[in-house]
Amino acid sequence: PYERIAVHRLGGRIGARIEGVRLSGAVDPATVAEIRAALLRHKVVFFRGQDHLDDEQQIAFAGLLGPLTSAHPTISTGSSRLLTIKTRSGQAANSWHTDVSFVDKVPAISVLRGVEVTEYGGNTSWANTVAAYEALPEPLRALADRLWAVHSNLYDYAAMNELGDADPDDPEVTEYRKEFGRIPFETEHPVVRVHPETGERALLLGQFFQRFVGLNTYESHEIFELFQTRITRLENTVRWAWAPGDVAVWDNRATQHYAVADFDDQPREVRRVTVAGDVPISVDG
Ligand code: SIN
Repeated sequence: PYERIAVHRLGGRIGARIEGVRLSGAVDPATVAEIRAALLRHKVVFFRGQDHLDDEQQIAFAGLLGPLTSAHPTISTGSSRLLTIKTRSGQAANSWHTDVSFVDKVPAISVLRGVEVTEYGGNTSWANTVAAYEALPEPLRALADRLWAVHSNLYDYAAMNELGDADPDDPEVTEYRKEFGRIPFETEHPVVRVHPETGERALLLGQFFQRFVGLNTYESHEIFELFQTRITRLENTVRWAWAPGDVAVWDNRATQHYAVADFDDQPREVRRVTVAGDVPISVDG
């Protein structure tokens, strides 16, 4: 089905590597349409050897996929559309999440470029939240369809940092968390969102989940675990080992991801540009 790109699948449920494209703001519309089709189908796509890409070209390429949002709702980047993620212990995104799911218009697409990659470790994994929904037994699908959840950037670090390795007494960690929570967000989203482009149903949970509407904390965490463990089953995931010049593009409406914090004190830097999304729509419209 693809005439301009070569698409190599990386797993049965998620992930593909795209060859035959030199990314920039000048990619022609027919090629962009094929990249978009591959992205909607495979949820995350990877491009190798894009070492020529600079910040401006990355921003320009992301702009071909849709209107961009600010780099981040709370972390200041000046006027830049680019969020630089330099890993410090407290900044490692080593918890499964959908990017900034605590805002009302959850971003649609993220474009991430490996700028400084590690010799070992530091992979990123993605999980397909559509496949996870579709694999649920019918009674659990029916439950998920009805639930709404509160997402917040003031999430419970202790509960959610799965490795528990961010030192809360480290001033850098404290500073980062303060900035992250500078403007508090609490937003209700349906747990099952209908994808605006594919019509598929996807589970919307992850690190910024706080509680289900109408349930207490205890019930919320029990049910959260029930769904979240299904989302992150290895069969639903793909794992990418970064090489210099790699670019990952993911559909943030149909995935969660996790940056594995196993690279000791090696420097690691990735830069992200975000395409704006819509307010998630429930199965009831
Ligand atoms: C992110 O959560 O967008 C960053 C992922 C990564 O550092 O690999």
